[in-house]
Amino acid sequence: MSSNRDQFTSKIGFILAAAGSAIGLGAIWKFPYTVGTNGGSVFILLFILCTLLIGLPILMSEFLIGRRSQADAVSAFKKEAPGKPWFLAGWLGVIVSALILSFYGVVGGWILSYLFRAVTFQLNGGSEEHYGELFSSLIANPWEVIFAQAMFMFITIFIVQSGIKGGIERAGKWMMPALFIFFILLAIRSLTLDGAMEGVKFMFVPDWSYLNMETLLNALGLAFFSLSVGVGAMITYASYLPKTETITSSAFNVAWMNIAISILAGLVIFPAVFALGYSPAQGPGLVFIILPAVFEQIPMGSVLIIIFFILLLFATLTSSISLLEITVSVFVKDNYEKRRSRAWIVGLVIFLAGIPSALSFGVWSNIFIMDKSIFDFIDYITANVGMPIGALAFSLFVAYYYKTNVTKAELNLPNAGYWLWRTIVCVIAPIAIITISLYNLFA
Ligand code: TRP
Repeated sequence: MSSNRDQFTSKIGFILAAAGSAIGLGAIWKFPYTVGTNGGSVFILLFILCTLLIGLPILMSEFLIGRRSQADAVSAFKKEAPGKPWFLAGWLGVIVSALILSFYGVVGGWILSYLFRAVTFQLNGGSEEHYGELFSSLIANPWEVIFAQAMFMFITIFIVQSGIKGGIERAGKWMMPALFIFFILLAIRSLTLDGAMEGVKFMFVPDWSYLNMETLLNALGLAFFSLSVGVGAMITYASYLPKTETITSSAFNVAWMNIAISILAGLVIFPAVFALGYSPAQGPGLVFIILPAVFEQIPMGSVLIIIFFILLLFATLTSSISLLEITVSVFVKDNYEKRRSRAWIVGLVIFLAGIPSALSFGVWSNIFIMDKSIFDFIDYITANVGMPIGALAFSLFVAYYYKTNVTKAELNLPNAGYWLWRTIVCVIAPIAIITISLYNLFA
């Protein structure tokens, strides 16, 4: 029996894992539809600001906590702050990440269903309404969505329990660039459609009437979701990092890549939305309806879309395994021989917890919690309540619990950069998170 925890053997392995966790449905599915429902350009601007000014410094903080403690999200705080209640933030992260995975698995299932349809050539040759109806008929079919969700969760659990995670992440080294190239090609096609400029305007010409606290909270929530911060995922990953590796540049890389992919996904979706006469504000189905319509406009589109959905599935899996990993690592702790069984149990519970979300587009679409469908409600409380609270706790922890010389040595930044980081995690991020959250709670 080995008593050592796994470690990343190289820095590139860690960056691939962290970037793989970050880049996923957040950039490719959630970003476009949230931009669509929040009026476009102003939201994009706020999202970029939130990512760089708040998300990035907190990502660095999570890396710092993880690498220093070399422990899972709960034990990290018990180790670093014995006898203090900080470990509760770790538990909150465990609960929130399990809830995120519960609906993430549903969308992962949609991707599998679409992949199946692509392989059987059912995704081409339709009219505009066809793609809307295709998506509606999928999400309204309880057996198909639950079966697909189960398959997606099965693959995720299998990867986490079998220790092939590292291999999957390394495959991301060429899968991710391939996806990126696909997006560039799709963006070019989308931008050259008749009427595409309307979509570009939607993304870049500000409509200031959307500048309000609600848009800001949605942007902050999406920034956290997209960077995988606020639940301890990055604490967990960085805990497998040898103490000798630098963390600052990894955090920067994750942040800019995430912004780049998000904008690119927007440039694929919105020009086509306006050129083909769809509504930008239709919610979670947006990319599933628009993407096949864009492929339709491309030579060999019906074949390329198969490759595309395989790559998308891949990007989604590197995120879902990180979500499952947080919870599994907390329950495994030092019992490495229990890893397999715990992964299956935790995964099964999360799958069951996701079924109501899966059904909330069809047979349970008439159930509302605080005016939201079950799916939207869980999405909302995780991104806009759970993750901000977690992020707040992590930033306060590094700001006020660690001594300056400790964080300075860990981050290894030039002086000005260090003080900028410190001002953000000590003052700016906490005040921003508290103000934005309270305002939305009471206003
Ligand atoms: N960031 C991922 C995405 O954009 C989702 C994700 C993976 C996540 N791990 C996370 C979100 C941990 C929050 C916390 O698709």
